[in-house]
Amino acid sequence: MANPALQDVVAALRKFAQSAADLHALQEFTVTLIDERLPHYNWTGFYMLDPNDPGTLVLGPFRGAPTEHLRIPVTEGICGAAVAQGAALVVDDVLSDPRYLACSLETRSEIVVPIRVNGQIAGEIDIDSHERAAFGPDDRLFLEECSQIIGQFIAAHA
Ligand code: SME
Repeated sequence: MANPALQDVVAALRKFAQSAADLHALQEFTVTLIDERLPHYNWTGFYMLDPNDPGTLVLGPFRGAPTEHLRIPVTEGICGAAVAQGAALVVDDVLSDPRYLACSLETRSEIVVPIRVNGQIAGEIDIDSHERAAFGPDDRLFLEECSQIIGQFIAAHA
C-alpha cells in the first residue's frame, strides 16, 4: 500500500481493535475513521449475514447517505455477488452493472470485501464512490486488511 493515508487507517484500526468493547464499537470506529480520512470513499458501511437467516445481509454501522437497502438477499446486488464470489468485488461503473442496487444517485463505483471468521464469510465492508473507477489495487489491499482485523476480532470475542 503506497498511500500513507491507507496505512494510517490500518494502524489506527489495529490499535483500536486491541481494546474495543465489542464488534459494534469497532465497526463504528472503522466507518468514522474511513469517512474522515478518505475523501473519495463517499459511503462506507457494513453488511453482516443475519445469524437467524444466513441468506440475508443486514445493514450495520455506516457513514454516508441513508440507504433503503437495510436487508439484501445474498442472491442480489453487488453485495450479494461478493458473498457468492467469496472475494473482493470491484465495480468500476455501477450504472453498467445489472446487479447493482442503487443507494445514492451519485454513486459511480463500488468495492465490496468479504469479512471471514475462521474461514467462513460473516459479512462484508461496502464502499461507494462518486468517482468512476475510484478503487484500485491499493484500496482492495487496504480493505482486505480492515476485513481481516475485524474477522479476527469477531473470532476472538465470539
Ligand atoms: N450497491 C449495493 C447496495 C448497498 S448500497 O450501495 C449502500 C449493491 O448493489 O448490493
